[in-house]
Amino acid sequence: MAWQDDAARILLANDRDGHTVPTDGLYPFQWSWDSAITALGWLTFDEARAWREGAVMFDGQWENGMLPHILFHGDSSTYFPGPDVWGGGHRIPSSAISQPPVWATTIRKMYEAAKDRSLAEASVRTLLPMLVDYHDWWYRERDPEETGLVRSFHPWESGMDNSPAWDEPLARVPPVEWEYQRRDLGHVDSSERPHKPEYDRFLYLVDFYKKNDFDPERIYKDCPYRVIDVGIVSILHRASQDLLALCGELGGGLDVAGIEAGLEGTAEAIHSLWSESDSCFLNYDDIADEPLKVRTTATILPLFGGLATAEQANRMAETIDEWLRASAFGVASTHPAEASYEPQRYWRGPVWPHINWMISLGLEKYGFDELAEDVRIATKKCIDKTGFWEYYDADSGKGCGGDEFSWPAAVALHWLDDESASCAS
Ligand code: GLC
Repeated sequence: MAWQDDAARILLANDRDGHTVPTDGLYPFQWSWDSAITALGWLTFDEARAWREGAVMFDGQWENGMLPHILFHGDSSTYFPGPDVWGGGHRIPSSAISQPPVWATTIRKMYEAAKDRSLAEASVRTLLPMLVDYHDWWYRERDPEETGLVRSFHPWESGMDNSPAWDEPLARVPPVEWEYQRRDLGHVDSSERPHKPEYDRFLYLVDFYKKNDFDPERIYKDCPYRVIDVGIVSILHRASQDLLALCGELGGGLDVAGIEAGLEGTAEAIHSLWSESDSCFLNYDDIADEPLKVRTTATILPLFGGLATAEQANRMAETIDEWLRASAFGVASTHPAEASYEPQRYWRGPVWPHINWMISLGLEKYGFDELAEDVRIATKKCIDKTGFWEYYDADSGKGCGGDEFSWPAAVALHWLDDESASCAS
């Protein structure tokens, strides 16, 4: 079977009546950034289904504009914490945090690539006001003091859930005091998943939002975890530019002043996070008021956001070149020279194809085409070796976490599908 058929088969198998689950069992609901990226894969063989992915996701948007990181479209006994623990939702039960806002970027890519022009135009016109509300929400509620840098209240919001960058700020969060049963360990070996003390704190935060009635002001003020995640900041920045481009073409009359101001603020403020000695931007602990020194792939995403100066971009390209080659199957999600590097454990080292895609787009944006292509080839090498897995051991290339996973399949269809690509069969 050609790998393209296999990738499409995975998306079809993970389709649940209009939304795609990341993989059966381990992740039985709709995750926001998975869904955005998966739509790119659908577009290559079923355009109507691709647009539907976004429509279903935005159906779960909160009244205040927030787009939840998980929409619980039904019950499931295979996932924890579920809707009862989160206790949030508007129209559809959901989590109470968001995820990296890559939607406007993928929607723009879909709009540019779609063959059915009238469907694409109608779909984008419907989505635009909701996208504007969503971006306004980030700038308004996650940066109420207008510093130019949005804040994040949970490691899961970063999408890089178990990244060592969050270890220190998370350690300050108290553990939950009630007993619970994790479900992830029933699907995946514990060596590839987070430890219990971290999970106890993840859950404390989930409780905290509910106890505070999801009130943004109280959460901003009192949440024991508050960081500036360079990944979110960069992805938001690129997506806001994509959103303005779409609004310029199809969104006449929408008020984009908040987004324009947000873009301006971030373009200036990002430079306070630049690390001269690391040649990348560092995440920031907003409570301890200090940079988080671990080099994770979030720290090189400002290229994707177009936030680096030409000089910074040159330095970052050197960083990425070295980082890519520091493990046999780079780009490792945590730099292999970091003490916290674990090549197989969830966000502490493994390679994630969709992150490589963003790194590569960032390099292209600044004219580093050869290196961008090297990152693409490295990604293909992972998928070639073991197929469509949640993530890949950065040293051995072994597929880890969940199998038959939607986003590597979608990334392959969208990004690796050309004559030079072979991928898994
Ligand atoms: C994990 C990942 C997160 C992803 C989710 C579903 O929680 O850390 O980024 O969205 O799985 O694939």
